Amino acid sequence: MKEKRTQWGSKWGFLFAAVGSAVGLGNIWRYPYVVYESGGGAFLIPYFFAIFTAGIPLLILEYSMGHLYRGSTPLAVFRANKNFEWLGWWPVISSAVILCYYSMILSMAVKYILFSVDKSWGQDSNDFFYNEFLKLSDSPFHLGGIVWPILIGILIIWAVNWLICYRDIKTGIEKISKLLLPCLLVIMIIIVIKGITLDGAATGLNALFTPDWDRVKNPQIWISAYGQVFFSLSIATGIMMTYSSYLPDKTDINNSAFLTAFANSGFEFLAAIGVFSILGAMAESQGVAVDEVVTSGIGLAFIAFPKVFSTMGIWGNILGVLFFICLSFAGITSSVSLVEAISASIIDKSGWQRKNVVTVICVIGFAASSIFSLNAGLYLLDIMDNFINNYGIVAVGLLEAIMVGWIIKPIVIREHTNSMSYFKIGAWWDIIIKYITPAILSVTLLQTIVNGFKTPYGGYDRTALIIYGWSVILLGIAGAVWISRKPWKKEESV
Ligand code: PHE
Repeated sequence: MKEKRTQWGSKWGFLFAAVGSAVGLGNIWRYPYVVYESGGGAFLIPYFFAIFTAGIPLLILEYSMGHLYRGSTPLAVFRANKNFEWLGWWPVISSAVILCYYSMILSMAVKYILFSVDKSWGQDSNDFFYNEFLKLSDSPFHLGGIVWPILIGILIIWAVNWLICYRDIKTGIEKISKLLLPCLLVIMIIIVIKGITLDGAATGLNALFTPDWDRVKNPQIWISAYGQVFFSLSIATGIMMTYSSYLPDKTDINNSAFLTAFANSGFEFLAAIGVFSILGAMAESQGVAVDEVVTSGIGLAFIAFPKVFSTMGIWGNILGVLFFICLSFAGITSSVSLVEAISASIIDKSGWQRKNVVTVICVIGFAASSIFSLNAGLYLLDIMDNFINNYGIVAVGLLEAIMVGWIIKPIVIREHTNSMSYFKIGAWWDIIIKYITPAILSVTLLQTIVNGFKTPYGGYDRTALIIYGWSVILLGIAGAVWISRKPWKKEESV
């Protein structure tokens, strides 16, 4: 007998959860830096090009497949074509790796909310972060021992993941996304308003947006645009297909894809304004140029920003607390989306109860994440993040487009999504999925691989990249093929 698949409370519940997954650390600390590095205002051309030629078309593809085939990513892909089940598992395995290191970053963000209260980092935020807090070893081969505050933070994050995902999606992920996303927006607006009223904000914003048209001619900038759009929209990670499989029968899929993409871009834009106003203020107060203070990722959040907060008196404490709350909220809604993509796949495959699956995933996930609490944790995180995002996810996006473009046929998906949607997509979508997205992603992937061989990522030893990078990718593929050989236990009931 067919059981009814669980559903979102409303279309808005789904949208909040999808935007919650998309809006994450990538919007706050990655986007501002990528724009700045890649030609400022001129970067918006490749960025929007990437959104319209890959971001939105792939979102429509994933939403539509999840909805049409009513399954987590592996099940949906299996139902579309039995030979491709492994391609449904690969992004789920990548998600598991992302989830483990995401929990470490989140645990640091939560800890920094507390540090901001009294600016515990003191005069030297760099030394505090690497030596006092992380106790970072001198190479990825010196794993060292456990750094307890990080391990405890990771435990807390997994407990939160468990508390949210243990419940049904309607009372768990939907509810938390509806709560955290508006809070996140309000906090970001406060940060932006405070940021743009600081002395020097204009310098930062000029540095960010002044277009450098020459850079747009550089292919590397186009590659960065695709990388950013992929990561930021959480596509090719198994999440969006799973989320859309919980939609009611009649839902406007095309509209939802556009709304998700625009909400995500809007938030990125806002974050870029906030971050660069604050960096501009810092540059001005130190009498240096903006490019001397700008960094991305970990460096921006845990070193540069604390340094700025130190110079701002009581506003520094307030902004610090708000900024790290922002990171934590943005990260939690992304983190639960990763847990959901993995649990839904296992539930569909094994027929086990949701509560048991989520509990087992959270226990194993915590154990696996604990390797990031070792002294070498940050190195492992950096290498895995680079490989999963630049190789794994792009490869999955490419294969998804080829699978739908050439085997399932785009018309099947387009007819389904158009039958649901008020705004119909035309044959342009078929052309994008069949030719344009595969062509661009193949070039991107090839170029990244060639560059990676020429200059080892991050100056790491090649052996370290093989052990923590390439082998993670290859084991992911092998694992995906292995699981796809196992039978579906309760295929008829999902
Ligand atoms: N989209 C999230 C961000 O912008 C990152 C993410 C990627 C989350 C993949 C889940 C899966 O930070």
